[in-house]
Amino acid sequence: MNDFKRTLITSALPYANGPVHIGHLAGVYVPADIYARYLRMKGEDVLFIGGSDEHGVPITLKAKNSGITPQDVVDKYHNIIKDAFGRFGISFDVYSRTSAKIHHETASEFFKKLYNEGKFIEKTSEQYFDNEAGQFLADRYITGTCPKCGNEKAYGDQCEACGSSLNATDLINPKSTLSGNPPVLKETKHWYLPLDQYEPWLKEWIIEGHREWKTNVYGQCKSWIDGGLNPRAVTRDLDWGVPVPVEGAEGKVLYVWFDAPIGYISATKELTPEWELWWKDKDTRMLHFIGKDNIVFHCIIFPSMLKAEGTYNLPDNVPANEFLNLEGDKISTSRNWAVWLHEYLDEFPGKEDVLKYVLTANAPETKDNDFTWRDFQARNNNELVAILGNFVNRALVLTQKYYEGIVPACGELLEVDKEALAQLLVLKAEVEKSLDSFRFREALKIAMDMARLGNKYLADMEPWKVVKTDPERVKTIMNTCMQITANLTIVFAPFLPYTMDKLRGFINLERLDWDQLGRSDLIPSGHQINKPELLFEKIEDPVIDAQIQKLMDTKKANEMANTTASPQKASCSYDDFQKMDIRVGTILEAEKVAKTKKLLKLKIDTGIDQRTVVSGIAEYYEPENIIGQQILILVNLEPRNLRGIESQGMILMAEDADGSLKFCSPVMAVKNGSEVK
Ligand code: 2FM
Ligand code: ZN
Repeated sequence: MNDFKRTLITSALPYANGPVHIGHLAGVYVPADIYARYLRMKGEDVLFIGGSDEHGVPITLKAKNSGITPQDVVDKYHNIIKDAFGRFGISFDVYSRTSAKIHHETASEFFKKLYNEGKFIEKTSEQYFDNEAGQFLADRYITGTCPKCGNEKAYGDQCEACGSSLNATDLINPKSTLSGNPPVLKETKHWYLPLDQYEPWLKEWIIEGHREWKTNVYGQCKSWIDGGLNPRAVTRDLDWGVPVPVEGAEGKVLYVWFDAPIGYISATKELTPEWELWWKDKDTRMLHFIGKDNIVFHCIIFPSMLKAEGTYNLPDNVPANEFLNLEGDKISTSRNWAVWLHEYLDEFPGKEDVLKYVLTANAPETKDNDFTWRDFQARNNNELVAILGNFVNRALVLTQKYYEGIVPACGELLEVDKEALAQLLVLKAEVEKSLDSFRFREALKIAMDMARLGNKYLADMEPWKVVKTDPERVKTIMNTCMQITANLTIVFAPFLPYTMDKLRGFINLERLDWDQLGRSDLIPSGHQINKPELLFEKIEDPVIDAQIQKLMDTKKANEMANTTASPQKASCSYDDFQKMDIRVGTILEAEKVAKTKKLLKLKIDTGIDQRTVVSGIAEYYEPENIIGQQILILVNLEPRNLRGIESQGMILMAEDADGSLKFCSPVMAVKNGSEVK
């Protein structure tokens, strides 16, 4: 029996500066959703909190780069994110936003209480300032080399490579992201949370008291605490955020990482007048689902804020995940290297659960993992279709075929039936153990083992053969299969909620509770099931090829955007240039040179004559598409022999950023033989 009465589940508030992608889902929202659904099925009292993080430099930078206001940015992305979560079936009890009035009030009150109780240090110090942009440089407005790990792209408040939380003045070789200039120092006043004072308490609370936390989380916390903590500024010189609610703080806002976690409290307030029960009652436990880059904020800074405030609960656990990569490369919003949730939902309608399945089966729980479209296809086809879908389909189709969909009575159970049914209880115990320890990929595998059990049972029993000799025995076999199917609707419900609703529709069954898992009397004999359809469908190669192509196009676009022109060559004289006789010509004939990949043999009308030129452009142009094309040709290049063909000149080509060659043609038709000067 649990020693708490209710569970508050928070999931990191995504910045509303872009849509959410599979990295967010795998790291935070899918595991949090599985856990919330699992607890609800167990009849526990749960609140699952979400919302958009709408302050901070990520938002103002996006606004600046897009030429719109920060409010426009957050309105746009908050709606995209909220809508996509809804369609995907993330079962938040509330999805709020930090630009909401209730949040501004809650964050202000929180700050004021700490301020009035003297929990902050007020300090005037020199901070980085960009003279050209006319503003102080905090957080992502400044980058430099991380003093802890040497990452050259650390931000002013955090290094994402090693997870360290930083002060801008810690950075080596700091540079403004606004102007690119090195910053200057200028005096300004801020309020600091003296984290150093919380060190002894953090040691006791985490290092001694929470050894059960995931190794990656515990390890990070221990190394920060052991490394020593410093006072941390909780205000900023910015004009977007929650205004600092004290006198003498005009033009200053709360640091985004001060206000954002308070967003969990505001969202709870928005949802229920009983919010204090969820935040202050000792019988409530709180869990923060986050990605690894958020560990320091949820394990050290926010708990220290809560401790300073004094009336709130602290998190019981912070089951943070590592990162998900995409096709071997780090997911990146700015490089558009991502699978965006809203696009997936549009392109794969009805396949929400397939993505949930793949992201859980391959969840980055203990180390970074890679999402590939081929793996997505394989898991759908070889696991969802071939294992779970296959068992369910055979069980339902045979029940229809032999008994017109009426579940037959169970006769005397043989040892083999009893063993299969007993295994359901074993799997129940195992899956619970995994879910209770936030090991969701392991839990999903165990759920799949239940479908494997069904397949093995059917294959061993061979009802399609036995029916000819012992139809009574087949009734018991099919009854057992239906009990296994009903169990599957329970065990998979936290992971594949839409699909299990569908399956319950097929077997005409009400929603079952988690406690019923493992029972062999879930469907009574005489129960009428509906006509089954397929639970999952195969995903064919062209669908996957199209997704891979989309990513290749992104990669190419990024390469194009990042390539800079090669440096200018050494000078040449006008006479040197004059030596080259470049003419406009027209391609009359084109054919591939046999046994080569790259060469085309062209016949060119140069205006002077018609001549043969061999050109290395076969990878970029089809011969039939270039007949009649005007080109530029260097006509006085010494003839060369290429693959036994005399090439009398050279077609001028431009080499694009991706290495491909393109014709340099006159913009308008020009008479063949015209000189290029
Ligand atoms: O890393 C992020 O995307 C942050 N917006 C997470 C905030 S979590 C919470 F504190 F709000
Ligand atoms: Zn670092």
